[in-house]
Amino acid sequence: MQAERNSNDVADLNAQAHALLKANDRGGYTVPNHSVYPFQWNWDSAFVAIGFATFDCGRAWQELTTLFKGQWSDGMVPSIVFHSNADHYYPGPAAWGTHHEPPTTGITQPPVAATAARKIYRADPDRTRADAELRALFPALYAWHHWWHVTRDPDGTGLATVVHPWETGRDNSPDWDGPLSAIVPTVDVSMLRKDNKVVDPSERPTDLFYNRVMTLVEEAKALRWDGVAVAKSLSMRVCDLGIQSILLRADHDLLALAETLDFTREAEQLRHWIETATKGFEWLRAPDGSFRSLDLRSGHLSPCVTSASFLPLYARVASADDAKFMATLLHEWEKTTPYLVASSDPYHESYDARRYWRGPLWIVVNYMIAEGFAHYGYHDLAERIRASSAACVQRHGFREAFDSHTGQGVGGRDFSWTAAMWLEWLNPQKLG
Ligand code: GLC
Repeated sequence: MQAERNSNDVADLNAQAHALLKANDRGGYTVPNHSVYPFQWNWDSAFVAIGFATFDCGRAWQELTTLFKGQWSDGMVPSIVFHSNADHYYPGPAAWGTHHEPPTTGITQPPVAATAARKIYRADPDRTRADAELRALFPALYAWHHWWHVTRDPDGTGLATVVHPWETGRDNSPDWDGPLSAIVPTVDVSMLRKDNKVVDPSERPTDLFYNRVMTLVEEAKALRWDGVAVAKSLSMRVCDLGIQSILLRADHDLLALAETLDFTREAEQLRHWIETATKGFEWLRAPDGSFRSLDLRSGHLSPCVTSASFLPLYARVASADDAKFMATLLHEWEKTTPYLVASSDPYHESYDARRYWRGPLWIVVNYMIAEGFAHYGYHDLAERIRASSAACVQRHGFREAFDSHTGQGVGGRDFSWTAAMWLEWLNPQKLG
């Protein structure tokens, strides 16, 4: 276990980040953290691959390739691949009932993989390997994007449907309070939970939340996990602004890769998806000018702004005025939460400084937001996000998340994606 520290020795942290990725390596894939999350998680692995690409591109490709071993025949890439025995984990393969080999969950997570693949492709000094790996991986990446744009957008609206809060990666965000409140739990899983035994329960979701989200799993099981039926009829159907933005960004990256490989048919299709998804963002604009997630069942936009509201910058879908609006908004947040970027509006009643996705900052989300602000010319703001993120890690280690008021660590310790982001982005030696 990593102790809280005051050390800000960069070389030391580089070595520790390498050591942590090695310690969390299970042979071809990396666990997010050895105690709370002991399997392969989808978007964690994509960020981890980006971290590996700073020193071992072969291992970076392998991280993605291993993730896609869990891909379903319809293109879906699951949120968790249980490569090893998972009897001790809840909810494990039995609870999901997907009957897949290797065992997986039945839901997905944010599609960062194509963006990671493009990064690794650019970074790999071994060009023969890079071409071979990309050619081998491309069809799987394309099939996943096809699944998002077709199976998860059955009416062709340009809005990707998400059916479970865990698909968003922002599991307990206030964005899901409204959609979840309509769900009457049919199961009580409070005795089965393990997460709140290893992490302070005040930082974890409530039992009612768990009962509701496991009710969604029961609904999908009753539909035998049929992709279209799940997308059309689960009790939660939302367009998550985070996924919508990450997907559009990844579409752009996948298009660039398709062009590199001269895959003209796929490139054409990707251009079409990009056009429709771009138009879809118009549905996500609130009257105050912010972007928000949309409840596709009720038609209501989320009542609060979250860290995802800055991700249209990363998707390159924001206008110059939108970017200005977002920069002004973040300045306001900074006055009360100096460690950027709180996961949820610090002035909103749903804000909770230490609870999962309702206040604390996540370094991977910051990485995407800062990249977006830098692209739109807000270099000072991007640097403030980087510097305050780096300060959190230097003072408190590779924690899962951090308190936006104090910078203190929240949730689990020894997190792979935090170490990966140290290597890729926070490490001051990366500057210039
Ligand atoms: C939590 C996070 C999710 C992440 C997982 C593993 O469930 O909410 O985004 O993928 O932990 O780190």
